[in-house]
Amino acid sequence: MTSRTPPEDVILIPKEFLSLSTLKGIVERYKGNRLEALQRDPNAFSSTYGRESQFAYETWLSRLENPLSKTFVAVEDKDPTPEQNIYNPVQRLLESEWLGQATLLGPKVLPQEGAETSKPWQVFSGTNLSEGPDFKTLGNAHATYLIVGVFVLPDRRRKGHGRRLIERALMAARDEAKSASAARATVGIIVESGNNSARRLYERIGFKIQGEELAVGGSEPLPVIGMTKDIDIESEHPVFGVCGAVAQ
Ligand SMILES: CC(C)(COP(=O)(O)OP(=O)(O)OC[C@H]1O[C@@H](n2cnc3c(N)ncnc32)[C@H](O)[C@@H]1OP(=O)(O)O)[C@@H](O)C(=O)NCCC(=O)NCCS
Repeated sequence: MTSRTPPEDVILIPKEFLSLSTLKGIVERYKGNRLEALQRDPNAFSSTYGRESQFAYETWLSRLENPLSKTFVAVEDKDPTPEQNIYNPVQRLLESEWLGQATLLGPKVLPQEGAETSKPWQVFSGTNLSEGPDFKTLGNAHATYLIVGVFVLPDRRRKGHGRRLIERALMAARDEAKSASAARATVGIIVESGNNSARRLYERIGFKIQGEELAVGGSEPLPVIGMTKDIDIESEHPVFGVCGAVAQ
């Protein structure tokens, strides 16, 4: 008897859907999870519930359609019986419980010199977040990414979902940078200064603190810490080992 690998518990939201009703269903779930994050942990994000709850459907849709954005969802199947099509990611996104999500923005190309090299998130501020480099220009370049919108439902925390979301995003960045023949890849993440749980999570995955600054965009300027992790894009093996331990 052959046994199938269990389906992944982190799913990448696809860019294309077979029907409009499926697309609308996913957009609604994405919106619901994001608004819950902003409501539950208002200090963890540089945006607010008041702002995003006013967004039109098209704004949520454009976030998911953005070619420079990949959103990963930690899911739990309600009834993972063989009869259900649990290997169909879209079906699972529609039917499972969403435990958390994280978004990977990028790639952008880091200049050779300048402050952005140590603070790569700066190339994402004030720029059009849906315009990236021509994939060909990534060859031999220093590709950079930013992870945003990390959230796990409060009653599902400390079960490894946050770690799996970040690791999945790192692997996607590595695969993309590798297929574009980038010379280097760095992933940045910005965390509110007092957010020790998020900071510890990122440190355990191998992110290093690069500096502190003030972020604007929320109800008031927020002291934040910028963290980065360089990815080993040459590795033929997964960046992470069993249980997500950093293998490099
Ligand atoms: C930060 C957050 C995403 C972590 O999600 P999670 O699913 O609980 O994280 P994990 O279970 O994968 O934790 C992995 C490791 O991170 C560290 N960690 C996570 N939460 C922690 C906490 N509250 N206190 C101390 N360490 C913590 C631990 O080292 C943990 O490993 P351990 O459980 O084996 O000790 C979650 O707490 C959250 O959604 N917070 C509110 C929103 C937020 O702050 N987002 C980040 C914005 S930058």
